[in-house]
Amino acid sequence: MTTHHQFEALVVGAGGAGLMAALYCSKTVKNTAVISKLYPTRSHTGTAQGGVAAPLGNMEEDNWEWYMYDTVKGGDYLVDQDAAEVLAKESSDAVIELEHMGLPFDRTPDGKIEQRRFGGHTRNFGEAPVMRSCKAADRTGHMILQTLYQQCIKQNVQFFDEYQVIDLIIEDKVCRGVVAIQILTGEVHVFHSKATLLAVGGFGRVWSVTSNAHSLTGDTVATIYRHGLPLEDMEFFQFHPTGIYKMGVLLSEALRGEGAVFINDKGERFMERYAPNMKDLASRDVSSRSIYLEIREGRGIKGKDYVFIDATPATINKYKSGPGGKEVTAEHLEHVLPDVFEMARVYLGVEPLKEGIPIQPTAHYAMGGIPTDLQTRVLAEATGSIVTGLFAAGECACVSVHGANRLGTNSLVDLIVFGRRGGKAMAEFVQHADYAPRPKDPEASTVAQINRIRAGQGQELPGKIRVEMQKVMMDWVGVFREGPNVQKALDTVRELQQRYKNISVQDASATFNTDILEAWELGCLLDLAEVTALSALNRTESRGAHWREDFPKRDDVNWLKHTFVTLKNGRQELSYKPVTLTKFEPKERKY
Ligand code: FUM
Repeated sequence: MTTHHQFEALVVGAGGAGLMAALYCSKTVKNTAVISKLYPTRSHTGTAQGGVAAPLGNMEEDNWEWYMYDTVKGGDYLVDQDAAEVLAKESSDAVIELEHMGLPFDRTPDGKIEQRRFGGHTRNFGEAPVMRSCKAADRTGHMILQTLYQQCIKQNVQFFDEYQVIDLIIEDKVCRGVVAIQILTGEVHVFHSKATLLAVGGFGRVWSVTSNAHSLTGDTVATIYRHGLPLEDMEFFQFHPTGIYKMGVLLSEALRGEGAVFINDKGERFMERYAPNMKDLASRDVSSRSIYLEIREGRGIKGKDYVFIDATPATINKYKSGPGGKEVTAEHLEHVLPDVFEMARVYLGVEPLKEGIPIQPTAHYAMGGIPTDLQTRVLAEATGSIVTGLFAAGECACVSVHGANRLGTNSLVDLIVFGRRGGKAMAEFVQHADYAPRPKDPEASTVAQINRIRAGQGQELPGKIRVEMQKVMMDWVGVFREGPNVQKALDTVRELQQRYKNISVQDASATFNTDILEAWELGCLLDLAEVTALSALNRTESRGAHWREDFPKRDDVNWLKHTFVTLKNGRQELSYKPVTLTKFEPKERKY
């Protein structure tokens, strides 16, 4: 049985971008709904720790142009500079708006929002680190999520919690809503809408070591691709330098903002060699590569594949690496990094005030995704038309504000700036649009996909295929890449896609059938792994998070352009779009 709903505005995803969009849209569109795979306050935004960037200048001088420059340089000049300008200019207002909604930011003694340093954020166009990250201890994302959810409830936004979107209803480049499964009952729900905004997050579960939650499987990003719409810049996936060793769980860059340093087996502060100016506060691509180089050259701790992040007061004071070079105390560090320290204690049994914490780079963030314009409208091709009624914001979207490598704290600000823009754009669109007719049987494809998995009698186990995919992507399409290895990864993923056709699951029931839904998610992950590997193989240069050992130089002559991959008649087509340059000409990056 299918249940039908109709909403003028529909948001898929209840993280920071989705909630901000819903909040803004619902100011004028009373009939606004949010569909979320999880209970909203369990969304992955809640795990973002260190802060949200805004050049408020509360601690020291700062301005939007310095911030825009850092974003462009951090993204290795693949950033569309019109988007970076929007981000830099609108960030302060968006953060102050959150403050006025009641978000409990940390405070300076005179009551202003307190800010801390973060990698790649500088004053005066790269001169030295600047305090730009607005924070609530190391729980900033959690606070944003709680604040926005409360505001949405106050605004009477209607929530459909634990509904998994399986398909988009798109015909003739017009989006007419989505089809979802209610996880509790297994029933099919069709949501007919005038405007739909996708804010579904990333797909870090393609890799074996990741900071991403189990739910981050890129379902709707893959669905867009299956509808013959392009994905942009998929070769750029960020590895965060400080994942808990083997587990991948994020330990915030706020550690380094507060003065922690990387240490190798010889006890050296090795970032002095790789980034003499920014040192441990170099951007994430640079830090992740440096860690792997240390490991490769035999300076991993005890010869293993990890190094320490050392946040002991003794080390921070020895190197004078605390904010402003000031002495730090154990009490201060405990106060500003409570969750990170607790995670080190609980997951690793390590006492962070006395010893180094074992870390390794962890798959963290998709710079690429669903291409949009500055109003968050989804593009139907690299240049030209849009998909009417379809919007995207946050990590799943690629407005290209992060280019080849995102700066820490720029994800949360992306969510609130472009989530807000998306909400406004939907509200505007809805005022002038009619409901596009709903096609006959919009749920047919969803029912067929789920029934195929339920009825599968093959010998292949989804869990086994998932592990194999994650391993080849981690080994060959991770921090370092080389043509023949990326090709091997691509071939393996394609073989796995064939094997996926012969899967079977053990649970055929309707209620909370995560066996079937996870098997379906695996199909999405495989498609995104394929597009990522293909894009990585195609880009024969090194830029930001995409490091090709066989092409170790950035090549602006041939590659200062975005990659688009579109599925046409079962084959991937590649096309390109020039990067939008406005204020800053590409220069060599030095840290
Ligand atoms: O390190 C962190 O706290 C993560 C922040 C981010 O990815 O922006």
